[in-house]
Amino acid sequence: MSSVPKAFDFTGDVAIVTGAGSRMSGEIGNGRATAILLARQGAKVALVDYNTEWAEETKRMIELEGGTSAVVQADVTEEESCRKAMEKTVELFGTVHILVNIVGVGGAMGDATQLDLAAWERDFKINVTSMVLMSRHAIPEMRKNGRGAIVNMSSVSGLIQMTRAMAAQHGPEKIRVNCVCPGMVFTPMQEGTGWDVGNAILFLCSKEAKWITGLIMPVDGGTTAGKADRPALKADTLAEQNTGVPNSKA
Ligand SMILES: NC(=O)c1ccc[n+]([C@@H]2O[C@H](COP(=O)([O-])OP(=O)(O)OC[C@H]3O[C@@H](n4cnc5c(N)ncnc54)[C@H](O)[C@@H]3O)[C@@H](O)[C@H]2O)c1
Repeated sequence: MSSVPKAFDFTGDVAIVTGAGSRMSGEIGNGRATAILLARQGAKVALVDYNTEWAEETKRMIELEGGTSAVVQADVTEEESCRKAMEKTVELFGTVHILVNIVGVGGAMGDATQLDLAAWERDFKINVTSMVLMSRHAIPEMRKNGRGAIVNMSSVSGLIQMTRAMAAQHGPEKIRVNCVCPGMVFTPMQEGTGWDVGNAILFLCSKEAKWITGLIMPVDGGTTAGKADRPALKADTLAEQNTGVPNSKA
């Protein structure tokens, strides 16, 4: 009986979660949920965040459950800071198997003719460049282990193709790269929570997902799929016109 392997066992794995704090005190954001879930399944988790107070709160939550984590202060928009965060994680926990890039912001408002370009560039750095910088320093560690898993949290569509390109580039090295696209999880309707997002990430980081890479996974309760009373696609009537066979008997 005991020879049956435990599913979603991260014992021995070291994970880095960027944005592991949360701006809402006592609440569960996406990074905090992901860090707690990984630690709960046995991973040692480096809680990388600019704001150490917010990350310490996550660490306390992990400690309450008996998990292992450490706060690593970094600004993920600065390459030297990312390099040091990786170095610190390896010093603390020996290596890195998993990188979850959560840090991101809503982005500059306005259309192309109106938006403030300095704000756009600032947010591009936070949302996209940061993921390249963290991956750039995590991948050499993953190579040493002969495996790795990276999950990017999508804030802008640019991340989708970047994730797929990274999946293709690092697939031969057994480093999987996937992307999670959460819906508005903290709307007043409260349709979803950080736990829903965290569980999707946990799955993508697990050995059970070893055959999954380059996946863009919406975690949004189906909101981007359309609505039953407003389907995403209209019926195409061309075949009906050309052949006389009706789309529907009704
Ligand atoms: N909240 C939502 O409804 C929602 C919806 C879709 C996507 N997202 C995405 O989820 C991610 C997290 O959002 P959230 O609302 O769950 O958490 P949050 O914004 O409350 O927390 C993010 C954490 O990232 C840290 N951080 C910010 N900039 C940083 C930097 N340069 N370096 C290091 N750490 C930094 C913050 O200190 C904070 O602890 C973002 O990428 C966001 O775009 C959120």
